[in-house]
Amino acid sequence: MLTRKNTVPIVSRSEKMGRDMRRKVTKAIFPVAGMGTRFLPATKAVPKEILSLVDRPLIQYAIDEAREAGIKEFIFVTSRGKSALEDYFDHSPNLEQELRKKGKIELLEQVRNTNMESGAIAYIRQHKALGLGHAVWCARRLIANEPFAVILPDDVIAGEESCLKQMVEAYEETGGSMVAAMEVPPEKASAYGVLDVKDDMGTMVSVKGMVEKPSVEDAPSNLAVIGRYILTPDVLNNIQKLKAGSGGEIQLTDAIAAEIEQERDVFGYRFRGQRFDCGSKAGFLQATVAFALARDDLKDDLSRYLHEIMAVKNAAQ
Ligand code: UTP
Repeated sequence: MLTRKNTVPIVSRSEKMGRDMRRKVTKAIFPVAGMGTRFLPATKAVPKEILSLVDRPLIQYAIDEAREAGIKEFIFVTSRGKSALEDYFDHSPNLEQELRKKGKIELLEQVRNTNMESGAIAYIRQHKALGLGHAVWCARRLIANEPFAVILPDDVIAGEESCLKQMVEAYEETGGSMVAAMEVPPEKASAYGVLDVKDDMGTMVSVKGMVEKPSVEDAPSNLAVIGRYILTPDVLNNIQKLKAGSGGEIQLTDAIAAEIEQERDVFGYRFRGQRFDCGSKAGFLQATVAFALARDDLKDDLSRYLHEIMAVKNAAQ
């Protein structure tokens, strides 16, 4: 039970051990089977998740965030045309050998960090883009009966501590299902899944309803769901029963909302960090600038350039 002050209740050692086992999150699903139409024509040949912020693909940020949160099994739900993702995580002995020969040790380390341990990654195909909920459901056999995380790689979250790690720690206390939540301007709420809040405890809210892309008038709050989830396997059963919802797709939000109707706990978690919507062009560009300005090797040249073009733009107005 959470109290308004987020205090932790007293539990016995054995009770805590049993609970910790039940609440250990070691699997994450990365749904990457979408068509990425907002980045056409680039995404005709390159998966959206391989598009890079400076020199690191979106998927790398998602993987690093998951690793920091203690995830051990990485399940990709892919589709036709996404094989570049499999190549990206594969070992590349020739490239590594060349870099070693040339003494490019730092680069070699960076390349090695993209390698995934054999057996840690699984790829499942979603044969038809029927929606995020359906993509998650495609991974059901690999999830079996454990809680699992879902990470949407086009939501990139910059911050001191991995967003998923924050959520995993909170989840160990609460159980239930949990979604990352962020306040958005009311007029933008209709672009998101939106939470109907039962009790606001600060970092955490308990949720009494969820609506996918509500009209501005129907939005129950301005607390929007961002692409990080920790879900119980029951959600997979709910997805199975769903028909297409908003936009003709099988929505994950609807399956989580069904959890609430079944009187199971659902929480929203206000994460610490800055979220970039890299599924949109504007968000992707903002993230590119922000990540480049955070780099010692790029920040001086880039900020000088940004000042110059802003000065020219302002002078022209
Ligand atoms: P988006 O709504 O961003 O769709 O999906 P999209 O296809 O990636 O991009 P646009 O809107 O056409 O530009 C959110 C997440 O859900 C995944 C996407 O890959 C993305 O990570 N998804 C969506 C699936 O895996 N399968 C689907 O059927 C739909």
